[in-house]
Amino acid sequence: MQATVRRVEECRVCGANDWLEVISFGDQELANGFLPQAEEYAEPTYPLDVIVCRNCWLMTIRHTVDPDALFSHYVYVSSESDLILDQMRHIVDVAVDRFGLAPGDLVVELGSNVGIHLGMFQAAGMRVTGVDPARNLVEIANQSGVESIPDFFGPEVAGRIRSGKGPARFMLGRQCFAHIDDVHNVLDGVTTVLAPDGVLAIEVPYLLPLLDENQFDTIFHEHLSYFSFGTLVRLFAAHGLRVVDVERAPVHGGSIVVYSSPADAGREPSPAVAELLAVEERRGLNTERPYREFAERTTRVIDSVRTLVRELVAGGQRVAGYGAPSKGCALLQFCGLDARDLEFLSDTTALKHGKVTPGTHIPVISPLQARANPPDCYLLLAWNYAEEILRKEKAFLENGGSFIVPIPEPRVVTAESPGGQLPGLNAAA
Ligand code: TYD
Ligand code: ZN
Repeated sequence: MQATVRRVEECRVCGANDWLEVISFGDQELANGFLPQAEEYAEPTYPLDVIVCRNCWLMTIRHTVDPDALFSHYVYVSSESDLILDQMRHIVDVAVDRFGLAPGDLVVELGSNVGIHLGMFQAAGMRVTGVDPARNLVEIANQSGVESIPDFFGPEVAGRIRSGKGPARFMLGRQCFAHIDDVHNVLDGVTTVLAPDGVLAIEVPYLLPLLDENQFDTIFHEHLSYFSFGTLVRLFAAHGLRVVDVERAPVHGGSIVVYSSPADAGREPSPAVAELLAVEERRGLNTERPYREFAERTTRVIDSVRTLVRELVAGGQRVAGYGAPSKGCALLQFCGLDARDLEFLSDTTALKHGKVTPGTHIPVISPLQARANPPDCYLLLAWNYAEEILRKEKAFLENGGSFIVPIPEPRVVTAESPGGQLPGLNAAA
């Protein structure tokens, strides 16, 4: 079913209408839209064009797909990865050690998924409430004892939480803010329920590694915004929130966690705030050049990944994909690689097993099945876990298997050339 699409005219952060056209990926299927196996497929496609606001330098996509189509039944389940669990624990520590969160305080999470992160706060004695539009995930959270509301977060939900439970001392949104169209409405919700001395922690994939490491496959319809730190500072300020700290996090290819607090709470910004703004200034993020160069590199990398895979297949190798992340589904569509090129994708997420990838119709199987019949080469689609995966798949490499790591520049990892240098995947400063 074709979902409604809105063409972005005014910038969702600053309201200007002066866009730099960066790159167009053409019409694409939804990257998270895994499909049941079928004889024939006729799924809708939506334009995917990247633009940058010349006023506040927000990078975004031109067409916004109706969020109900994207998020009301979500197969992304966080998180089976050590990297992500460590990051969640880190944020709990920061909340307690740096911002004085105490047992009994209320924590509210936006995009709370199955409630793993809130479960950690709960174990530390805090009261918690999650909000997430994915009913299937909220149900799992509630069953595991993490109170969650199936809804899109905004002033209305925030008001209900506040009248039921009082103000929130800590609010967090990990990896969901970039999915939000009406960011001002969500921030109105935040200021509705946030305590006068409360802290909001927002973790987003960071624009800098996206540009520097050619992470073009993180661009798909779910991800509406690709934030620089400067753009976020400006956005939060418009809601009376002062950014008091920022840190880089080695998740999702390089993210930032931005901590803000009501401006009149009197918290002083840490030196990291001015430092990162200066880094962005030096990198020229408020100029057209880095975006234009990114577009050129992206076109080139897409061509080389396609060529590399096709050459291996033509040489008689069996190639499969490692992981079936949304970004992998995007990359395969961009490269035009399909079930004729890749035999299967191996992924740990049970919800994806037995399905096929959107647009490219490659079957997703379990790692157990894959291990029973391993290919010669894996295209590493879950490249954000490269270290973890290459460590785990030592035996595959030692038995002569290889990995293609597609970005920043495609290269082949084997037991003999373990890639020694996996450039910048943990882009933490
Ligand atoms: P992820 O990068 O978290 O998300 P996105 O969908 O936003 O791009 O997805 C990683 C996928 O990789 C997820 O489906 C689980 C899978 N995966 C494996 O199959 N094996 C692994 O060892 C790891 C770490 C992940
Ligand atoms: Zn703007």
